[in-house]
Amino acid sequence: ELGPYSHFMQKEIHEQPKAIADTLENLLDSGFVPELFGAQAADVLSRVRGVKILACGTSYYAGLTAKYWIEAMAGIQCDVEIASEYRYRAAWADPEHLVVTISQSGETLDTMEALKYARELGHKWALSICNVRESAIPRASDLVFYTRAGAEIGVASTKAFTTQLVALFTLAATLAKLRGKLGDADEARLIDELRHLPGSVQHALNLEPQIKAWADRFAAKNDALFLGRGLHYPIALEGALKLKEITYIHAEAYPAGELKHGPLALVDENMPVVVIAPNDSLLEKVKSNMQEVSARGGELFVFADLDSHFEDSPGVHVIRTPRHSGVLSPIVHTIPVQMLSYHVALARGTDVDKPRNLAKSVTVE
Ligand code: M6R
Repeated sequence: ELGPYSHFMQKEIHEQPKAIADTLENLLDSGFVPELFGAQAADVLSRVRGVKILACGTSYYAGLTAKYWIEAMAGIQCDVEIASEYRYRAAWADPEHLVVTISQSGETLDTMEALKYARELGHKWALSICNVRESAIPRASDLVFYTRAGAEIGVASTKAFTTQLVALFTLAATLAKLRGKLGDADEARLIDELRHLPGSVQHALNLEPQIKAWADRFAAKNDALFLGRGLHYPIALEGALKLKEITYIHAEAYPAGELKHGPLALVDENMPVVVIAPNDSLLEKVKSNMQEVSARGGELFVFADLDSHFEDSPGVHVIRTPRHSGVLSPIVHTIPVQMLSYHVALARGTDVDKPRNLAKSVTVE
């Protein structure tokens, strides 16, 4: 079953170009049409006035990324909540806000209970983004978008996450189109960018030898900091979670602008700082945050793209993805952080596919 790979996680990382291409299959022909989310989606998606995303773990980080896309592209409010928090708080509900649950397994108890609670609070419509057909959460939802990642066996979520991002980007673009905020030319451009996405992900996978070379330097560390801004902040969170989960190294992620509000005190020559820094509108801000790290002797490991114009220098190590991927850049820049965790785990000899204390599907509280 593993073929040429040593672990399911490695196999699943490398399956991402295909998983993304499969998830995109219908969309590349149809464009951003509501029917991608189910037969009755046109009516619902044109009526929703906002979006409430509920999820756990990595799926929650997919939701955080979606907030940037949905608010920027569709111009409607998008809140993202950790399901286990939402289900126990006296939350305010707008019945016309679409509840979107994100779950690889479709069986996560906290997400399922959060969905039921949202219904009790009066939300009229629920959309499930899920990887497992006919699982509990899509069955309890009005609309469904199935990601086509195929079976994900490694406990650490990889291809499920990047395909969730594809689904959520499609949702943002569809909501934008229904609201007259996405013209034909822009739609054609976005479809073209999506068409190139599996290729860009493959280019990122080809960086594996360079990332492996970094992994040995991480293996002896006890802590790591991940930084990103804007669309890339959730990818920093995902990078830190992957590292914690499979290497047991303590890792934290911050939006880089928060450094000076506290975490900068942690930075010294022993603290590796991973920065997700492809070219986007916040790159100059990220560069000045990196200066703050360098000035305290911190060692920077930077994932950039062709357009970010970084050079290696003492204490600054740079790996570049060979293309600039625009608004889809968070999907592409997930690949290097996954591979970093994988290779650090190998170097530390941990159980990559079955990390201690964790289960693949969390069906208990
Ligand atoms: O199946 P789900 O997407 O609902 O699972 C949610 C989380 O338990 C899951 O993403 C978890 O955080 C992963 N192990 C992270 O790699």
